[in-house]
Amino acid sequence: MTIIKNTLFFIFILFYSFSALSEQTVEEIIKERKSIFSKNYKTAKRVQGLASNGNLDEAKILMIEMSDNYTRLLDLFPENSKTGFKTEALPAIWENKDEFNLLMTKASSNMIELTSAIDGAEDVKATLGKYMWGSCKACHSKFRAEH
Ligand code: HEC
Repeated sequence: MTIIKNTLFFIFILFYSFSALSEQTVEEIIKERKSIFSKNYKTAKRVQGLASNGNLDEAKILMIEMSDNYTRLLDLFPENSKTGFKTEALPAIWENKDEFNLLMTKASSNMIELTSAIDGAEDVKATLGKYMWGSCKACHSKFRAEH
């Protein structure tokens, strides 16, 4: 019985990975990027709470998660996803793709740097502002529509 269960589970995982690798529709791409940004927002607030309470180990795990999410986002702004599905992405992204990607990469590496900068930081809030919240503003001011 366990063997059957395990086999079924394996097959399920296999199909799941295949479908994840297949082409995403524009709607799926826009929805995925929106949901990752929303998630990062929630995670950033948790990082702030944890770090302020000196809970650094847990905060660091979430910092790395945010860093990985930014890396994933790099793939979620293809040419065919400029409009539709309530996107707030501005055309400036595709007119300045290198600058946009650089900001995203910087946002990702800043979260990694934060994992060490937070150790012994005198001003936790300022450190989070510099390495975490600063990235949001830097990008939104040019690449996300007013909302
Ligand atoms: C390199 C650029 C970039 C960075 C860095 C960035 N964002 Fe964004 N963000 C965007 C863009 C572009 C959109 C619009 C995406 C869309 O609607 O397709 C967006 C959308 C959002 C949304 C709305 C998601 C939705 O459901 O519509 C939230 C919330 C958000 N960002 C929060 C943050 C926070 C918080 C940070 C920093 C911790 C951050 N973002 C960092 C570019 C960025």
